[in-house]
Amino acid sequence: MARSGIREIMDAAWGRADVIHLEVGQPDFPTPPHIVEAAHVAAVAGRTGYTPTAGIPELRSALAEKILLRNGFAVDPAQVVLGNGGGQAIHAALVAVTEPGDGILLPDPAWPNFAMMAALLHLDAAHYGLTASGGYLPDVSELERLVTSRTRVLLLNSPSNPLGAVIDRDRMQALLAFAARHDLWVLSDECYDEITFETPAVSPAALDTDGRVLTVFSFSKTYAMTGWRLGYVAAPPAVADALAKAQEPMISCLNTPTQYAALAALASGPDVIAAMVSSYRQRRDTVIGHLGELGMTAFRPAGAFYTWVDVTGSGEGSREFALRLLAQERVAVAPGTAFGPGGEGFLRLSLAASEADLVAGVARLATAWRRSAG
Ligand SMILES: Cc1ncc(COP(=O)(O)O)c(C=O)c1O
Repeated sequence: MARSGIREIMDAAWGRADVIHLEVGQPDFPTPPHIVEAAHVAAVAGRTGYTPTAGIPELRSALAEKILLRNGFAVDPAQVVLGNGGGQAIHAALVAVTEPGDGILLPDPAWPNFAMMAALLHLDAAHYGLTASGGYLPDVSELERLVTSRTRVLLLNSPSNPLGAVIDRDRMQALLAFAARHDLWVLSDECYDEITFETPAVSPAALDTDGRVLTVFSFSKTYAMTGWRLGYVAAPPAVADALAKAQEPMISCLNTPTQYAALAALASGPDVIAAMVSSYRQRRDTVIGHLGELGMTAFRPAGAFYTWVDVTGSGEGSREFALRLLAQERVAVAPGTAFGPGGEGFLRLSLAASEADLVAGVARLATAWRRSAG
């Protein structure tokens, strides 16, 4: 597997206080204190042993309720299986529904771990493009060209990392119809489900009539809990059973105090998430506004916490631009190519940084841009 293109920049910028860090893909907020406290209380009370593989029953029930209320589809708690973060949950879901040699349709650009998982599981990945001209949404006619009789899975990611694009209801319906035509599983990565700025994201599972959607969620971004490692899958009953079985040799169960922290997170008032989303929205508007004033263009994300900035006119590749930006202007960003060849010509700026850093970072980015373009 190729080295991560984000890591290259992170390593070069590591520990440098003079660098503005806009490359990181994790919230800059601390985990809310009542969530930390719940883990502490659980550990002190001796809740430190193994739990059932799929998770403690009260958490699976609370997650089924959350999914109904916030994602708009009904599942039995038995259909909810916890994972060690959304990433491991996606991996387990792929283990449950694929065999080596099966085909999988992945977005490009996308979170690089999807392709890495496909490689680990010996899946044959075909990449569908997410392009500016297509509004960064999956195009069904392209999927029709890529699908083969060996294809088993269509992976969707809305809101998307790195783009922040959100798939609307009509497009989602068309994607489900495509999956039904070719009898595919739909693996829907909704790790940014609650970080949306205009309208709520649409879960394909809410439109699914024939039990082909597996949905993966995470506490990492929603509650600023990246290091706690808590994700979960909602799957059709038979798949959920297979998934829980596949989890056993992988993780035995999830960290026990973390599961009690998750219960406290779910019981939080709506302000906890709303306050973070409101900051990301404000920062998005600041960044898009400043980039526009400086003559640069970026996609206006409807969700997640990234900005996708166009540097195609620089005459340089994304990686070279990102390395030069770090060397000359001391700003670390992720090169678009870290997310696949479709990211060439773009940079991903994380909005998980202070307004002051974002404003200064964008100004320095524009300086680097003018230097190359002029
Ligand atoms: C699109 C996407 N999916 C899944 C994940 C996995 O997150 P975690 O394993 O922390 O839940 C990430 C993390 O960056 C992501 O960006």
